This record gives sequence, structure tokens and C-alpha cells, in this order.
Amino acid sequence: MTLPASIDEVQETLGATGYVCGRALATVVFLSLRLGRPLFLEGEAGVGKTEIAKALSAALGRRLIRLQCYEGLDASSAVYEWNFPAQMIAIRTAEAQGSADRDVLNRELFGPDFLIERPLLQAMRPDEHGAPILLIDELDRTDEPFEAFLLEALSDFQVTIPEIGTIKAPEPPIVILTSNRTREVHDALKRRCLYHWVDYPGFDREVEILNAREPDVSETLSREIVAFVQSLRTEDIFKKPGVAETIDWAKCLLALDVVDLSPEVISDTLGAILKYQDDIAKIEGSEAKRILEEAKATIEAA
Ligand SMILES: Nc1ncnc2c1ncn2[C@@H]1O[C@H](COP(=O)(O)OP(=O)(O)OP(=O)(O)O)[C@@H](O)[C@H]1O
Ligand SMILES: [Mg+2]
Repeated sequence: MTLPASIDEVQETLGATGYVCGRALATVVFLSLRLGRPLFLEGEAGVGKTEIAKALSAALGRRLIRLQCYEGLDASSAVYEWNFPAQMIAIRTAEAQGSADRDVLNRELFGPDFLIERPLLQAMRPDEHGAPILLIDELDRTDEPFEAFLLEALSDFQVTIPEIGTIKAPEPPIVILTSNRTREVHDALKRRCLYHWVDYPGFDREVEILNAREPDVSETLSREIVAFVQSLRTEDIFKKPGVAETIDWAKCLLALDVVDLSPEVISDTLGAILKYQDDIAKIEGSEAKRILEEAKATIEAA
């Protein structure tokens, strides 16, 4: 599919995949596609950062290639590796057959048959459906040397493999980077990108997201769930629930045939929205009751 021609079209095509996209996010997505700039998304956990890459991939019919970052991720796991076990077997076989011509073997061993392509290299390969989407997820989990390496890879979209040569992307991939901001990502990398802070959605938008994801939850219950979670986010707790938790909770309540929130139901199912015992202990019981009353009051006032 061709790239969206307007911000409205971005909202529409993402909306068709079930992703509810506010105007500000749609604008940076549009600009990132139009200008061919990487999109850097930061925000709390579970607010839809990773999902946007998946939604874009579905909306545009492009392949999604994901590089999941973690501590200790290095260039070889991100770009390419040689298939060492297969190389060993090939050497053994050649030796056993007595056909080990050193030069030929060397050339074969370091040729495409033994190359394992990792996400960055995969993203540089041509694709009949157009440039793929490269999701570099949770960048803040890697270290600075890897960031520096990435900075270079993102600037020229080419990879040099000494034994094979330089591979260049015919068309640069659409790059989306995400971070939970457990540490600051370097300015130099940010400067290359368009930046957007993905915040918790407002009440109406979160209800809309919940309807899009769990259409079987009644309108009344959806509003109660969202109002409760939104109130909960204003409490002094260690880990605030994201949109993912709102959706999970709704699923649980649906499975339990709950039609209306009550303090008892909330206490029984808190594990769907709070993942730390301290937070649960704090909210259980009278606090849950108070927050629920607060939530119901905001719904009535709206
Ligand atoms: N705007 C939205 N529209 C539709 N669904 C959404 C939206 N935002 C979040 N979600 C839902 O919330 C879930 C979590 O989103 P996602 O995994 O993208 O969060 P994240 O920001 O990447 O979180 P983390 O930082 O923990 O990786 C997704 O499965 C998605 O269904
Ligand atoms: Mg994510």
C-alpha cells in the first residue's frame, strides 16, 4: 500500500487495524513516513508504543522486523552472524570426503549459505511490498556502545560484511524506536529521529481503545473500568497500570460475567492491573472502595 497522504488518513488506516491514534501521534507518524525519518517513541509501560509498529505494519501491508533490545545486545546479534555449527559440519564433511580445497572451502564457508541474517540486515533486504518496518524495541535496555553503533547503521542503511561485501538497502526501512526511559537515550541518536512522548490516553480515548479491543464489554462497564484505572493512576503507587492492563482487566471481568464494578470484585481481580504486592496491599479494601466512588463520581459528572 502507498503511504498515507494526510494525517487524517494515518488516523483512519491505523483505526481500521484497531489502533486508536490521537492527532499528535498521527502527525509525527505522518511526518516520519513523509520525511523518511526514524520515529522515536518514549512513554510509560503499556501505552501502545510497540503496538504502533505492529498496527502500521498491518495498515501498510509492510513486513515487520523487530529488534528486541536487551542488556548486552551486540552488533553481531543485531546484524548478522556466521552459522558456526553448520560451518563445522561442512568442514568435517569436506575432510571426510577428502575434498578439502582450502580456498574453495573458505569461500563457501563465508558465503550466503552460512550467513544468519539478524534484524538490521533483514531490514535492508528488498521487499516486494515496499520497505519493511524496523521496530527497535526498548532501546533503553541496551548500552551506549550499541547506541553508537545503531546511530551509524541508521544513518546510511548499509552493512559491510568483510567476506561478502557491502549490502545497502534499496529503500530505507521505516524505523520505529521505543524506550521506557529507564535511562536517557543519547542526544545524537534522538536528533536523527522525530520524537513523541506517548502518554496515558484521556478518558474518552481510553474507552475508545477498550471498545476497539474488547467490543464485548458493555458501555457502562467499560466506562467504569477506565474511570477506575484513570483514578488509580493518580494514586501514589509504584507501578501505574497502562492501557494493556486496562484491556487485561476488562478481559478478566468479562470472563467472570461481571456487569458492574464493586469493591469486592476489584479486590479479587486487582492482580490484573497491579503487579506489585505493595501496590496491591495499599489499594485493596477501603482504598479500592474510595477510588471506585471517586471514579463513579467522575463518570456522573461527565
Ligand atoms: N492507542 C491504542 N489503540 C489500541 N490498542 C492499544 C492502544 N494503546 C495500547 N493498546 C493496547 O495495549 C497493549 C499494550 O501496548 P504495547 O505493548 O504497545 O505497549 P508498550 O507501550 O509497548 O509497553 P511496554 O513499554 O511495556 O513495552 C497492546 O496490546 C494494545 O492492544
Ligand atoms: Mg513495548
